[in-house]
Amino acid sequence: MVGLVITIAQRKGGAGKTTLATQLAVVWARYGARVAALDIDPQGSFSTWVDLRRARLGAKAIGFDFAALPGWRAAQWVDDRVGSADLVVIDAPPHAETEARIAVRVARLVVVPVQPSPLDLWATAETLKMAQDERRRSLVVLNRVPPRSRLTEDIAADLASAGTPIAATRIGNRVALAQAMALGFGVIENARMTPAAAEISALAEEIRGAASG
Ligand SMILES: Nc1ncnc2c1ncn2[C@@H]1O[C@H](COP(=O)(O)OP(=O)(O)O)[C@@H](O)[C@H]1O
Ligand SMILES: [Mg+2]
Repeated sequence: MVGLVITIAQRKGGAGKTTLATQLAVVWARYGARVAALDIDPQGSFSTWVDLRRARLGAKAIGFDFAALPGWRAAQWVDDRVGSADLVVIDAPPHAETEARIAVRVARLVVVPVQPSPLDLWATAETLKMAQDERRRSLVVLNRVPPRSRLTEDIAADLASAGTPIAATRIGNRVALAQAMALGFGVIENARMTPAAAEISALAEEIRGAASG
């Protein structure tokens, strides 16, 4: 058995990498998968969320294996875990080209959060190209999507016309997600009956399916 490595990458900061990485880890773990999560972003937002989580749930009760490391150590760390984890999720840094590339290289699937704005779309091309250069499959996730927006549809069409796979599941602009982040929780834990929880659960399933295919 070899664990599926999923790298969340996007050159642009604030796109939702850490939000998706943390929330997906919680869903997969809660549904019984053995999950390992790695934060290689020097900003350490995933680590901050894990600190909060450890304080609330107990150091050993966060539900998954976690480490924060510099990117150059990522390949070894992942290698040491693919035999025992079902899913390995990596929160990649923005900008840091070399470190992000290492994380892309070890991935089975590169998940790219994109907010529906032209600036985000432009930044995305670079991340998609990196995945392509490394011959890795990528999946764009539209994040922070406002309801009924023409711009979102234009951006989705733009990506689709370039042949970019886009997740069927879109994540709305959900206060529950920001709240869960502030508490060290997953939305499926502290806001179970919300649209945010439904979206994140659907996305977790879709990404797992895409990565195993
Ligand atoms: N779908 C969403 N709905 C509401 N807020 C979001 C959503 N996705 C991300 N955010 C917020 O946007 C900010 C940036 O998200 P983050 O995950 O830290 O991005 P990145 O890791 O790519 O820099 C955070 O404050 C986060 O809470
Ligand atoms: Mg981040």
